[in-house]
Amino acid sequence: KPVVEMPRYPPCIEMGQYEIQTWYSSPYPQEYASLPKLYICEYCLKYMKSRNGLQRHFEKCELRHPPADEIYRNGELSVFEVDGQSNKLYCQNLCLLAKLFLDHKTLYYDVEPFLFYVLTLNDEMGSHIVGYFSKEKHCQQKFNVSCIMTMPQYMRKGYGRLLIDFSYLLSRREECAGSPEKPLSALGAVSYKAYWRSVLLETFSVGMEKPISIKDISEKTGICPLDILQTLKDLDFLKPQGDKTVISLDETMIKSHNTKLKAKPRLCLDEDSLHWTPMV
Ligand code: COA
Ligand code: NA
Repeated sequence: KPVVEMPRYPPCIEMGQYEIQTWYSSPYPQEYASLPKLYICEYCLKYMKSRNGLQRHFEKCELRHPPADEIYRNGELSVFEVDGQSNKLYCQNLCLLAKLFLDHKTLYYDVEPFLFYVLTLNDEMGSHIVGYFSKEKHCQQKFNVSCIMTMPQYMRKGYGRLLIDFSYLLSRREECAGSPEKPLSALGAVSYKAYWRSVLLETFSVGMEKPISIKDISEKTGICPLDILQTLKDLDFLKPQGDKTVISLDETMIKSHNTKLKAKPRLCLDEDSLHWTPMV
């Protein structure tokens, strides 16, 4: 979490059962952004000026999950695919919310060209938003994530990694390797580097007999070749051999990674729980 010293507009939000200090300002309309606290419906993301307003809204609001198809459900976690064109207001409100935790510019109003994948934690009350990523519908540059965010009350629990993993699962279904849109924030960069590193270490631990190429890894993981190459460099797994460069594994590093993973298992996707076909 960044050291927050600058004044933010709004400085605080209330959403569901959480009160959350914001990190950055977001361009909510001036009469909302200037309030000490903004009240946000955790289901439709509409913002309001008072708790009374939110309560009155809640009695009328019929949503108890994002307004879209549930494309993934496993245990208490779901992912909903929200189309920026058919649910413009929800997606605009989601972008305004995300900006509170993002330092760089992001889109707010031009949401139509994007799909929003919203991760929720479900209980008897409804599907509570944990985080999301956005993705351009038709991306020439093969970006598979435009913006990604975990709500602060859920950060550092593995949900960001799960969202990243989900973005690559979609890329594998599309049979088209992808990469996140640049620039990444500092937290985005640490999360992606940790993800790529672990995926490579886990790819190598199986079937280390045969030599594996960057192209093979890319097809298996959905990670684009350039990100694989950079991760191999960071791992110091690239070694000159004659006039070529080969992938040379450090088995101690691979073993120690697997030992750590066994000691602290992570949230995993169940690929069979994804009911989705790529848009053509
Ligand atoms: N300090 C150090 N490491 C951190 C960290 C922090 N504050 N936050 C995450 N990490 C590391 C974790 O150690 C983890 O690595 P590991 O698997 O080796 O333990 C990895 O990053 C992912 O952590 P995870 O708990 O899955 O991520 P998250 O749910 O906290 O979400 C972001 C990560 C980037 C989505 C979240 O920090 C966020 O929403 N930030 C604000 C918005 C943003 O900057 N988005 C990215 C740019 S669009
Ligand atoms: Na970014």
